[in-house]
Amino acid sequence: MTIKYTFYDSMKNERGKMIQTIRGTKDLLPDVINQWHFVESQFRKVSSNYGYSEIRTPIFEKTEVFSRSIGEETDIVNKEMYTFTDKGGESVTLRPEMTAALVRAVIQNSLLQQSSTLKLWYFGPFFRYERPQKGRLRQFHQYGAECLLSPYPESDAEVVFLANDIIKSIGINDYALFYNTLGNAESRKNYRNELLKYFRSVKDNLSTDSLNRLENNPLRILDSKDERDIDIVRNAPLITESLDNESLDYFRSFEALIENSGIKLVHNPRLVRGLDYYNHIVFEFQNSSLGAQDSFGGGGRYNDLFEQLGSKQSVPAVGFALGVERMLLILEQNESLKLQENIPDVFIIATSTDLLKQSRDIAAILRARGLQVIVDLQRRSVKAQMREANRNGAKFTIIVGDNEIARNIVIVKEMATGSQSECPLANIVHYPFS
Ligand code: HAM
Repeated sequence: MTIKYTFYDSMKNERGKMIQTIRGTKDLLPDVINQWHFVESQFRKVSSNYGYSEIRTPIFEKTEVFSRSIGEETDIVNKEMYTFTDKGGESVTLRPEMTAALVRAVIQNSLLQQSSTLKLWYFGPFFRYERPQKGRLRQFHQYGAECLLSPYPESDAEVVFLANDIIKSIGINDYALFYNTLGNAESRKNYRNELLKYFRSVKDNLSTDSLNRLENNPLRILDSKDERDIDIVRNAPLITESLDNESLDYFRSFEALIENSGIKLVHNPRLVRGLDYYNHIVFEFQNSSLGAQDSFGGGGRYNDLFEQLGSKQSVPAVGFALGVERMLLILEQNESLKLQENIPDVFIIATSTDLLKQSRDIAAILRARGLQVIVDLQRRSVKAQMREANRNGAKFTIIVGDNEIARNIVIVKEMATGSQSECPLANIVHYPFS
């Protein structure tokens, strides 16, 4: 009996304790939700201007969707995936990115048979077990777009222009596009051999992580952030020296297409990106105000991914993703965030609780007109309701009083001017609240 009691007591304590969000995750509270609505509306508008259609897939997938595509030796797969075995014994993973999941969905739903170029966009939450810091979360959001079936650099350029228009449409103007090529499969193989030769010659000085990656995936060492590797990487051979003619031609054509676009361009021959599925063009959008996490978007071409994930058909593809939290951070730092406040059109004040029914009826009529209408839910005094209407910044108040209802009218007050007028109840449906 005593034991049971103690157990109950400790449960009670547990129950009373405040529970916090998981580290690296954030609540999006009402005061910022308008920023999100704004950026989301721009994603929808600009994507549709380019003829891209939205796709939504589940937020978790079979683990191999990601391990087979992103690369076993990458940080994402190695260290950052939220992977667990479900109750049926299946290994599942919260999606760390969209490209692999989108490719899975396109193959599974045979979407490629329906068009010659398939252009898709997405927005949603993604999950990576990273060390949280400014601009780096464990649940974050991406907007992204993928252009499937075109093997030509015009499609690489198009996705860059789409990204650029999205970024500008939400108010970010100061950024640069860093780009590079990883070449075709042949060039990449040559480059891999060059890197192997070089890293083997300095292997005693490499970090443990890099040493482990050396034989399987020396390319990954290039984006190591470990102090011990940084100098070694600085002297590593460049991909440009291993490119064959086809790869060089592709790269030059891409460069020519983006040359006069007004985007600040920087060719960075060391840019390799943190995912293994790329070939040919890779790129990142960077903004100096983000500090260590200066890249707020990235993408590239991935011509082999479809076959890697089981497609019988080879599908040339290119795309990118932008980090929404990082873009909002840039806007906040530049104080250029457009904040649309949630301002009610009308606040209805009932002079007694007996009149709440009439208030609700008027509210229903006005809401049906598309107006934002607040009614009192606290049974407050007229004075307190008026204070609340002011606090909310309501444009109009409607006063519903016994005398007025007896005469089938209400009083309408325009808050900015203080001017008041009587409005017959039958006319409230037409009253110009604007
Ligand atoms: P990614 O470079 O891994 O590429 O991610 C794209 C963007 O997502 C980053 O530039 C960053 O803004 C944001 N991001 C990534 N991790 C975090 C994090 N932990 N916290 C906050 N933001 C983060 C991809 O995901 C590829 N799927 C892009 C792509 C699409 N390539 C071809 N198509």
